[in-house]
Amino acid sequence: MIELYADRWALITGASSGIGAEFARRLAGRGMHLVLVARRETVLAELAEELHTRHGTKCELIVGDLSEPDQAGRVIDRVNELGVTIELLVNNAGYGIVGTVEQVDAERVMSMLRLNVGTLTELTYGILPGMVERGHGAIINVASVAAFQPVAYMPAYSATKAYVLHFSEALWAEVYDRGVTIMALCPGVTRTGFFDVAGVPNWLKKQSSHTPAQVVKRAMKALEKRRQFVVPGWSNYLRALATRLAPRRFVVRESMKYFRPKKKKNATKSTDADAPPTGDDAPSV
Ligand SMILES: NC(=O)c1ccc[n+]([C@@H]2O[C@H](COP(=O)([O-])OP(=O)(O)OC[C@H]3O[C@@H](n4cnc5c(N)ncnc54)[C@H](OP(=O)(O)O)[C@@H]3O)[C@@H](O)[C@H]2O)c1
Repeated sequence: MIELYADRWALITGASSGIGAEFARRLAGRGMHLVLVARRETVLAELAEELHTRHGTKCELIVGDLSEPDQAGRVIDRVNELGVTIELLVNNAGYGIVGTVEQVDAERVMSMLRLNVGTLTELTYGILPGMVERGHGAIINVASVAAFQPVAYMPAYSATKAYVLHFSEALWAEVYDRGVTIMALCPGVTRTGFFDVAGVPNWLKKQSSHTPAQVVKRAMKALEKRRQFVVPGWSNYLRALATRLAPRRFVVRESMKYFRPKKKKNATKSTDADAPPTGDDAPSV
């Protein structure tokens, strides 16, 4: 795996914050050059400047909304124009939506599916064949501990992450003997802007959580061991295992406590459904 790093190129989606920005910093520290993709151009430019000053990293920015249907193709075309070979692809861009079925906007869910599933899949199919042909390279697809179970009040998000896990593991088996690794990274609660975007900004306050640095460090170690998936943190790992052993009905009912909307005092049953979810109870993302 040594050839993954120094003077090679990585492409990171969702590099402007959280886990993606941490991947950028860590990979730059190992001598990689970076193609950074996200919507917030100024933030990407500041990160590129920081990495260039600190490590001499060459950074190329691709600014765009990856939930739009034609964007993965645009990214691949731009990479080809740049003439760089992607040695490591980090499919990290993604978001979640928390809410009851009445609260959640179907168009926003479809946009999330295009980003979390569609773009990740298209980028994988666009970049993986070249890696297989060269006989080296790696892809990290960012899933979640939510990949291991259905999660009530975020059903579509947890389903996208189950897809990412299964897709990545299946491809891992296909390409392992051809020198290429695909790994699903399944973080538990991580201190990023994820919960603000998901609509539960208070969620993090009462949870035990990891920093993006802890998650990325664990991911890099697992990648070097060519694991097909990794769950950072022992308690997250054990919880993920437990959901596979417990009855499915129990698992999904238990998940209701994570993001169940808080009941308002003096509210009737029908208005309860309108209350925003609080995310005050237990961790899972
Ligand atoms: N935080 C957690 O607890 C947790 C746990 C498990 C899994 N995850 C997963 O980790 C990944 C990274 O999330 P994070 O926690 O680091 O959250 P974050 O800080 O909100 O980062 C999300 C990144 O995705 C980018 N992004 C979002 N929508 C995009 C779009 N339509 N087009 C292009 N880029 C887009 C954002 O950049 P712009 O806004 O600049 O576009 C940002 O760089 C996600 O796949 C998430 O599902 C997070």
